[in-house]
Amino acid sequence: MKTQVGIIGAGPAGLLLGRILQHHGIDTVILERRSRDYVLNRIRAGVLEQGTVDTLREYGVDERLNIEGIPHEDMKLFWDGMRHSIPMVGEGERRLTTYGQNKIVEDLILLREKDDLPLIFEAEVETIEDIEGAPIIQFRKDGEVHALHCDFVAGCDGYHGAGRRHMPDADAHSFSKEFPFSWFGILADAPSNIETRGFGHTERGLAVSSSRGPDVSRLYLQVDPDFDIASMTDDQIWDELDLRLQNQFGKTVNRGPITDKAVARLRAFVCEKLVHGKLALAGDACHIVPPSGAKGLNLAVGDVRLLSEAIVALIKDGNENLLGRYTALALERIWPTVHWSCLMSEAFHLFPGQSPFDTARQYQTLNLWAYDETGQRWFRESMLGRPFPQY
Ligand code: FAD
Ligand code: PHB
Repeated sequence: MKTQVGIIGAGPAGLLLGRILQHHGIDTVILERRSRDYVLNRIRAGVLEQGTVDTLREYGVDERLNIEGIPHEDMKLFWDGMRHSIPMVGEGERRLTTYGQNKIVEDLILLREKDDLPLIFEAEVETIEDIEGAPIIQFRKDGEVHALHCDFVAGCDGYHGAGRRHMPDADAHSFSKEFPFSWFGILADAPSNIETRGFGHTERGLAVSSSRGPDVSRLYLQVDPDFDIASMTDDQIWDELDLRLQNQFGKTVNRGPITDKAVARLRAFVCEKLVHGKLALAGDACHIVPPSGAKGLNLAVGDVRLLSEAIVALIKDGNENLLGRYTALALERIWPTVHWSCLMSEAFHLFPGQSPFDTARQYQTLNLWAYDETGQRWFRESMLGRPFPQY
């Protein structure tokens, strides 16, 4: 098998890269180790920055997004028993939109299948050879090893993928931090109660209430790192959400059948080595943010915009200049966004052994973000997301 760009991973990064390169007339093959069903049903992020929405529109991935995406005017924060609202519309009418990552992935897969472009599921990449010359991706499919010859390889295969494993010296260029808690996320067939929606800082730990449409709620609870999903009944989950999100008017969280449950460990990670020879990384393959900033997917889209332009210049004109600048430009957005996501985590979670003094300091941070003019502006701009860098 042969292609111009071999893309490893059919998450948002790999699928979007395939879509953009298609637009530029470049052939791609996407290899994904999971099954089609698994990828379509994987529930993850859901808060899109304006730049992400604009990118999806630019490449025609917006038919359902335009109907089902929910734009936000403000963001609700709860702390110390009170509810606070921060205006969330930036210059040029920039705002956040709620639309599930699984829907973006489905939209991209359906478009790719409609155009009859290669997307091979249950194809696990094992090795990438000759990344300084003519790369060959070896992948296992139905128990057999196959070879894909490429002009270029994009590792869009997440934190545990093969891309970073084959990036020389990646470990020496990596930084990471583990937080002492996890997020337990649920999806429920229940209209999200507007009164209890937002980010809650409570003495029982963080809770977040979001939505995925008029009849679907997305909710998160801070839990211990070793939390076992089976340890809580559905009623206990709703009771705990009420304890954390009920506001001073006594409104409770709307309940309904829970359709998905998952736990994710909170950590931050940056690999500063994004390119070597004909291999480049994008998305979770080179950075992980704690979900409290809702930035993982948005960062992946920013990387892919830059990387696609560099690949187009390389393949169409033999111009290596942009690829040489990809790492520095992408990191210009990655590091501040990772930093912001960590600050959000530090301000909202209950840490082991937290003292009343620590809690008072968290309230000070939240007060600044909600009520100080400069603090509010910083909060708003950070949540709305930094502009995508340009070459
Ligand atoms: P991914 O979506 O991880 O896609 C990588 C793909 O590569 C996967 O499909 C994987 O199966 C495939 N792959 C891996 N190895 C190989 C291989 N060897 N061969 C072939 N294919 C391979 N962000 C938020 O903002 N809010 C959230 O609530 C949130 N929840 C999350 C929950 C979980 C469990 C995880 C893991 C992430 C979550 N994120 C969240 C982060 C966000 O979803 C990611 O930032 C986003 O998915 C990044 O997209 P990506 O395409 O880079 O990586
Ligand atoms: C979501 O809607 O899934 C969501 C909301 C806020 C976050 C992360 C995820 O910080």
